[in-house]
Amino acid sequence: MKLLDGKVCADSLVADISRRVAGYVDSGLRKPHMTVILVGEHAPSESYVKSKIKSCENAGFESALLRFPESVTETELLEKIAAINADHATDGLIVQLPVPNHINSQNIINAIDPEKDIDGFHPTNFGRMTLGQKAFRPATAYGICKLLQFYEIPVKAKHCVVIGRSNIVGKPISIMLSNDFEIGNATVTLTHIETPRELLLDETRRADIIIVAVGIPGFVTEDMIKDGVVMIDVGINRLQTGKLVGDVDFENVSKKCSWITPVPGGVGRMTVAALMINTLMAYQNNFDLA
Ligand code: GUN
Repeated sequence: MKLLDGKVCADSLVADISRRVAGYVDSGLRKPHMTVILVGEHAPSESYVKSKIKSCENAGFESALLRFPESVTETELLEKIAAINADHATDGLIVQLPVPNHINSQNIINAIDPEKDIDGFHPTNFGRMTLGQKAFRPATAYGICKLLQFYEIPVKAKHCVVIGRSNIVGKPISIMLSNDFEIGNATVTLTHIETPRELLLDETRRADIIIVAVGIPGFVTEDMIKDGVVMIDVGINRLQTGKLVGDVDFENVSKKCSWITPVPGGVGRMTVAALMINTLMAYQNNFDLA
């Protein structure tokens, strides 16, 4: 078993971005700029946003964190988003999810200018990505592709099983891996909460690559997989003991895998790195750079 080390891969990608940014700044351009909107108090979001801001520093970007109280209205947020959309000094904007229940997250996503939508969640980007056109790709799914590419894991013609159909991970990664992309051309099965257990097992037991994003500690067990599988664990679950674990029973499952992502230090790192790639692309688009 070998580890797909998200830290090593992310550090390498961010170092490459920072070299490019240094070149742009040397030529007289301003730095790329990412704005993050964070609503309310949600411990996991605090930690994700912190790592995004830190990664901006490492990439040579500027960033702004705009905090709103839990009580902010949807209208107030939409007004702020409209102001940022009109601000030429901001290249990329993300609204950290989840937002409180009284705010409709799809309305928020739809309000972000697709040119600044570095999360790739806006219907325009999601549609363009699905059609194989140039687009901001959802960061976690894109990060997984970059990780597979970095470790030269073959994807073309492989059988991939995705567990979980969320808009931010399962749905986009299933589309990206089945598309005719550089990291793609796989045969993909998308399974979800309504997939009968027997059917899920039929699929996972013959999968070459499994991507699990369900948010349930220990969901994937050793009896569900074949020897040599590549296991991508998107879960980030905090146990009552304080320990962070993924959706895979790492100790037992890892023994059967050819490759596996650790948690932490796997996909989470790659989400942030992919966000930096998207921010650089937004900036390059802004300045008509190649
Ligand atoms: N919450 C969990 N993952 C993400 C993400 O990739 N982007 C945003 N905006 N919120 C999230």
